Amino acid sequence: MKKIIKISLIVIIALFLLIQLYRPERFTTAEVTPDHITKKLNVPANVESILRRSCFDCHSNHTNWPWYSNVAPASWLLADDVETGRKEMNFSEWGKMPESKREIKLESICEEIEEGEMPLPKYLILHPDAKLSDADKKILCDWAESQLEGAGSEDESEHKGKDDKK
Ligand code: HEC
Repeated sequence: MKKIIKISLIVIIALFLLIQLYRPERFTTAEVTPDHITKKLNVPANVESILRRSCFDCHSNHTNWPWYSNVAPASWLLADDVETGRKEMNFSEWGKMPESKREIKLESICEEIEEGEMPLPKYLILHPDAKLSDADKKILCDWAESQLEGAGSEDESEHKGKDDKK
């Protein structure tokens, strides 16, 4: 019996070491290119700080890779979330999306946070400070809406209509 436990342990450790060989790419940069959301939209400091705290890890190129992202299999799961998140919407490459897509994303930002879908609930387990308060949600939603109004500025009549509402 003791022998089986010993062999199992050796196998588990060997497997654990073996899977470390496959290391996903973990790209990050502090660079702010002209396509960055802060260069494309009016992003007030309070909005930027919420995005940075709660969204940038998965939706920008400024990912703060934690130490456990060095260790498989956590590294695979994390890299997968970041890759998918960036593909869906990358704040560092905001300007690369067509205008119509940017508008859709601005709308879904508010939807996702109000429904509690974003930040991903599993992310909050290890990043409790990324949780959005009701005040944070309101700031983000109001901001997204204000940017949508700005986006329609080429369309005079629509712009006017929105202005009248204020
Ligand atoms: C742990 C990584 C992670 C964090 C943090 C995160 N997201 Fe996401 N986000 C994803 C992934 C993965 C997807 C794509 C799959 C999905 O929709 O669940 C996504 C999708 C989205 C989408 C696209 C939904 C659609 O259907 O168009 C929006 C909008 C979004 N996230 C907004 C946010 C906002 C806003 C924050 C911060 C408040 C945030 N996310 C934080 C990982 C993350």
